[in-house]
Amino acid sequence: MVRTARIAGVATAVPAPMDQRALWDGFFSKHYAGSRLAERIWASSGVVTRHGVADPLTEDVSEWGTGARMRRYVTEAMPLGKDAVAGALAKAGVSAEEVGLFAVVSCTGYATPGLDILLARDLGMPADVQRLMVGHMGCYAAIPGLSTVADAVVARGLTAVLLCVELTSLHVQPATDEAQQMVAHALFSDAATAVVLTPDASGLDVVDTIARTDVAHQSYMTWDVTDLGFRMGLSPQVPDILQRHVRSVTEDLLARHGLGLDDVTAWAIHPGGPRILDVCRDELGLAESDVAASRDTLRDYGNCSSPTVLIALDEVCRRTPLASGDHVVALAFGPGLTLYGTLLRQA
Ligand SMILES: CC(C)(COP(=O)(O)OP(=O)(O)OC[C@H]1O[C@@H](n2cnc3c(N)ncnc32)[C@H](O)[C@@H]1OP(=O)(O)O)[C@@H](O)C(=O)NCCC(=O)NCCS
Repeated sequence: MVRTARIAGVATAVPAPMDQRALWDGFFSKHYAGSRLAERIWASSGVVTRHGVADPLTEDVSEWGTGARMRRYVTEAMPLGKDAVAGALAKAGVSAEEVGLFAVVSCTGYATPGLDILLARDLGMPADVQRLMVGHMGCYAAIPGLSTVADAVVARGLTAVLLCVELTSLHVQPATDEAQQMVAHALFSDAATAVVLTPDASGLDVVDTIARTDVAHQSYMTWDVTDLGFRMGLSPQVPDILQRHVRSVTEDLLARHGLGLDDVTAWAIHPGGPRILDVCRDELGLAESDVAASRDTLRDYGNCSSPTVLIALDEVCRRTPLASGDHVVALAFGPGLTLYGTLLRQA
């Protein structure tokens, strides 16, 4: 019998909401000394609400050292991660004792013993649960995480949990006039999303995954560990580079299964920023309605790095009645420059 890896449950946990306009008025307008460019970027970010464990309106972490940020990361990521995993397990009807593999993805905090060990302990996963930590890959990391976990489900019949947790609010940087910092501060947000995969559930099968990395443009997106937290480097040309690759990489993924772009029922596209969604919509020949779930994810959650594509996937599946055999494609982007895509099929 050929096994499949099925998504049996997805859940997201977020910290307190922050209003985008209030963040500008109450903190970032001063942080950027009233910069007209920053205000414009803020207004066109496509974000209305986002979430943060450190709300700049009440707590300015921009001068904190990295050690303090990492300690805070563990304190805040634990309850969020726990809520997301417990929620996904409950939706899947799976108990923590049944988990055979627990993978944690994050690029915004590190500790040892890590979240994989501490959460497995607190949630009551078995003492022999296998664990995997995926660190510092960035916004697309949910897809290689999902794909690796799915392979273990297929190969060994394990029940697996993937947790993506990012606390970007702990990495607000000191005041600067660099536009790329304004873009990062206007878009990024916090969230934890967990996915439960089992060999025998009803739901979406993880069918196949594709990666493409354009190393000629690796300097266009960076995430540097500094003495004052982690600092984003982001070129304004990122959407243009993604534009070059997104259609062909998606067609290559679909062609392996005898499918074309028209065979895809629903799309979950990492909303890195409004221009990322515009470029993907136009290059893939999609309607605005095809990217609505992704755009609404940006509006309601901001860019939460790795969990974001899973939030968009959950949202589009909620909105789209999927029949057996329908296909969904999830796409995410990040440093490298990397495009990652995964093909899912409704069982
Ligand atoms: C940032 C963004 C919301 C701004 O949108 P906008 O205001 O509607 O229009 P533009 O894209 O023309 O950008 C406005 C200005 O910001 C600058 N800008 C945009 N992105 C920038 C970046 N990453 N770094 C520095 N400047 C940037 C533009 O050059 C432009 O400046 P100019 O008017 O002096 O030429 C939009 O460009 C976007 O979505 N970018 C993608 C963000 C991204 O790469 N996310 C991560 C990918 S996974």
